[in-house]
Amino acid sequence: MSVDITSAEFVKGIIGDDYMQGDGRSQIAFLGRSNVGKSSVINSLVNKKQLVRSSSTPGKTREANFYLINNEFYFVDFPGYGYAKMSKKDRDKIAKRILWYVQYSPVRPCAVVLVVDAQVGLTDKDEEMIRILKNYGHNIIVVANKSDKLKQQEVLKKFSEMREKLNSINAFMYSAKTKKGRHVVVERLLSFV
Ligand code: GTP
Ligand code: MG
Repeated sequence: MSVDITSAEFVKGIIGDDYMQGDGRSQIAFLGRSNVGKSSVINSLVNKKQLVRSSSTPGKTREANFYLINNEFYFVDFPGYGYAKMSKKDRDKIAKRILWYVQYSPVRPCAVVLVVDAQVGLTDKDEEMIRILKNYGHNIIVVANKSDKLKQQEVLKKFSEMREKLNSINAFMYSAKTKKGRHVVVERLLSFV
């Protein structure tokens, strides 16, 4: 088993309900509200600046994008849910696709990374997603991104508030910008594969 992420390549973007890669490789899915930094987290984990398209305008990721990691497993970067400026129809479409994937996809992810904003903490939508993921028996880790925006004292406070709500679910403070937390998150993710 690998001990780090050493290679990553874009494979394909998928719209619709066909999340079958059909090659037996594990999938790790990245979910979370729009603009929390899912795509940036993937870029930082794989040590590439622009493997994944991320931007200052939320609602950027519209497909489920598959990235082959270490020639061994996939990171799947999903569009964010709940982007207020997107039309309700588009928002519903994205929510439906994410729910289908976590509930019915023939290829179950070996882990789901729920990315949240460290400053904001868990929102109602995040807690609802956690309930669904738990109901369907998924391995979950929570990555609280953008921790670089907080002072160290606030990081600790936010983190303990989050931990209280999460019970046994693993959570990590993280920054895609500074890569703080990268090593432990990579180690945890590789342990699922
Ligand atoms: P959608 O695909 O729209 O759901 O967004 P996303 O969750 O993939 O977010 P994305 O990676 O596109 O990042 C959104 C914005 O947050 C960008 O402007 C990033 O530069 C910024 N951002 C992401 N991670 C961090 C971080 O760790 N720290 C700081 N300060 N900004 C970040
Ligand atoms: Mg994105």
